[in-house]
Amino acid sequence: MGIFYDKTIGTFFLESKDVTYAFRVTRFGFLEHLYFGKRVAREDLSHVEALIGRGQENVLPDSEKRIHSLNQYLNECPTYGRSDNRESMLAVCDDRYSRISELKYVSHKILPAKPAIDGMPSSRGGKTLAVTLKDALNGSVVTLFYTAYDDVPVITRRMEIENKGKKPLVITRAYSACLDLCDDDWQALSLYGAWARERFIDRTPLHHGIWEIDSKRCSSSGQLNPFAALVRPHTTEENGEAIGVNLVYSGDFTVKAQVDQDETTRLLVGINDYDFEWTLGKNEKFSTPEAVFVYSADGLGGMSRAFHDFYRNYLINDRFVYAARPIVINNWEATYFNFDNEKLCAFIDSAKGTGINTFVLDDGWFGKRNNDKAGLGDWFINTDKLEGGLTTVINHAHESGLKFGLWFEPEMINVDSDLYREHPDWIVALPDLKPCAGRDQQILDLTRKEVREYVIKVVSDILKNNAIDYVKWDMNRTMTENFSQALGEKNKAMHHRYILGLYEICEALVNGFPHIFFEGCASGGCRFDPAMLYYFPQIWTSDDTDAYMRTLIQYGTSLCYPLSAMSCHVAACPNHQTGRNTPFASRADIAHLGATGYELDLTKFTEEELEEVKAQVNKYNEMSDLVLKGDLYRLASPFEGNYFAEQLVSKDGKFSRITVMRNLNLPNGIAFRVYPKGLDEKADYYVSSLGRALKGATIAGAGLVVNFDRGDFVTTTIDLTRK
Ligand code: DGJ
Repeated sequence: MGIFYDKTIGTFFLESKDVTYAFRVTRFGFLEHLYFGKRVAREDLSHVEALIGRGQENVLPDSEKRIHSLNQYLNECPTYGRSDNRESMLAVCDDRYSRISELKYVSHKILPAKPAIDGMPSSRGGKTLAVTLKDALNGSVVTLFYTAYDDVPVITRRMEIENKGKKPLVITRAYSACLDLCDDDWQALSLYGAWARERFIDRTPLHHGIWEIDSKRCSSSGQLNPFAALVRPHTTEENGEAIGVNLVYSGDFTVKAQVDQDETTRLLVGINDYDFEWTLGKNEKFSTPEAVFVYSADGLGGMSRAFHDFYRNYLINDRFVYAARPIVINNWEATYFNFDNEKLCAFIDSAKGTGINTFVLDDGWFGKRNNDKAGLGDWFINTDKLEGGLTTVINHAHESGLKFGLWFEPEMINVDSDLYREHPDWIVALPDLKPCAGRDQQILDLTRKEVREYVIKVVSDILKNNAIDYVKWDMNRTMTENFSQALGEKNKAMHHRYILGLYEICEALVNGFPHIFFEGCASGGCRFDPAMLYYFPQIWTSDDTDAYMRTLIQYGTSLCYPLSAMSCHVAACPNHQTGRNTPFASRADIAHLGATGYELDLTKFTEEELEEVKAQVNKYNEMSDLVLKGDLYRLASPFEGNYFAEQLVSKDGKFSRITVMRNLNLPNGIAFRVYPKGLDEKADYYVSSLGRALKGATIAGAGLVVNFDRGDFVTTTIDLTRK
């Protein structure tokens, strides 16, 4: 395992767990992709090349036969203007207005540790291959970085471009990676949605031409996630090939899959170049975000488990990733903006003794924030509402044995705020065009240093002066009028500059307060991406707290993100988003498939109901380690039928819990069975639903019948405990 270069065949072999990624330097000097798939021997793979003499094809000048067209090669870093007419990975314009480019191999290094990306989050890693290419035409030097991992079938990639010429260059496209595959027998799978129904699953065959998902909202977005997978038509949950890709980036992205005349597939991923132009002065560098590739021969389930392990072990803040997560009670859906010290203290009291261990004060504690029309930007405690500041509530929480969490929306500003009255030019807007508003708010121009400094200072002051254990970092609108009043011509990459500004703030606050646990949020789950996960070990998955909707949202999210990354709350019924009633127990069982919490008014609960909460929290504590560290098997898809079923198994195979929801109760219905996975075949497992033990192989092979109580949206859980 590791990274190898065979000089005799000019081939690089990247070996991660069970997989090989191979490419070579051709005699023309460009990098030819050879293979990404199940582990193969380190031997000459040049036979994968399928060059034929085609009519109407342009070949490279030194081609001795009419076959050496870049169009027909699998290319590792395709550029424009030199016989590859497919989508390029990079486009650089020189002072002659030429974007023609010819990148040739210069050298490579195997670095002992993975270098961080300046100004951008990325995963951790060991040995990293850095291959340097040079474009003699425009003087740019391109470095491709590849990291392989012994314990996960993951390869990470990114690119750096440096201007080593004499004149400025203009980058109009810089994707993070291109993966050329030698056939087109793939379907594209992606996660689409909207506010309150994020990350539903789409699966569609590729076609000749380009399939694409993207964002232009300056946010990775709830509409399309920066994740896609190419899967074989026959790939199922546990069988068949799947190649997943995810971009470690929170802004505008694109993922494209192009099928061309040779019926090969080109997969590209990176920053969206729709509204992007970056001038690179002499000796300046531009870095792309990182792309994470997973290869699975074990279907979508294998792909998801690889992403989960990778993000837990190499991306999420290791101070928190495997530590017990706070079990919160959040006041948002219980009080909205309407609270004072007395109400909040009563709220805290109601949670005492239930096992809930953190109180989170949501929106409304600052400025003139009595509704969502005012106050954002004024991060000063509203002492009319909270007499004496936050001290009363914080002390009360701490004295009651609960930690204290506080809500912020650092990137935003209301026009009705002191901050706006003082700095009207600090918003993202064209000065002569009244900006669109989202939830009555505007976006602070984080491309400006003074704005970033203000945000860091005001938020830090609150965090320094109050005993805060937890922060919920919200972001409730996407960008329009993409213009900074201070950037001038640099506005051409305004979105990317905004995201870099955001990362600078996250970096300062998350590292400045290492004891504080940060949760991400964006109108629910509208910015759920690996870069956010780097800063925030968990993200509020959706504002939709309806248990049935959550089965869909959490199932889709789990394709790429671990359950511990999903913040999930038990909320009141009728549900505030859907008006639906679901059983209290079901709401808890589904919220337990993530970092669980509560978001309802426990002061209205009877003693008996509070006992029920306590029992639910105990039930969660039995499985919290599974959520943090276990393997996920999706046993039934809520997108495909009346049932949702997910199984978590501890890495040592000792304990497993299966959670099933039946949506509608069909009278006189048929039995529903699950076929559990990931068990030790030879071991005996006590099956809670049967009250006796069976061999792992028997449980997996013969399955288990799931019994439900009467009613709709009821859940059943089954525990399997190795004897
Ligand atoms: C949107 C979030 O998703 C909610 O949980 C809540 O924090 C509100 N914003 C507060 O304005």
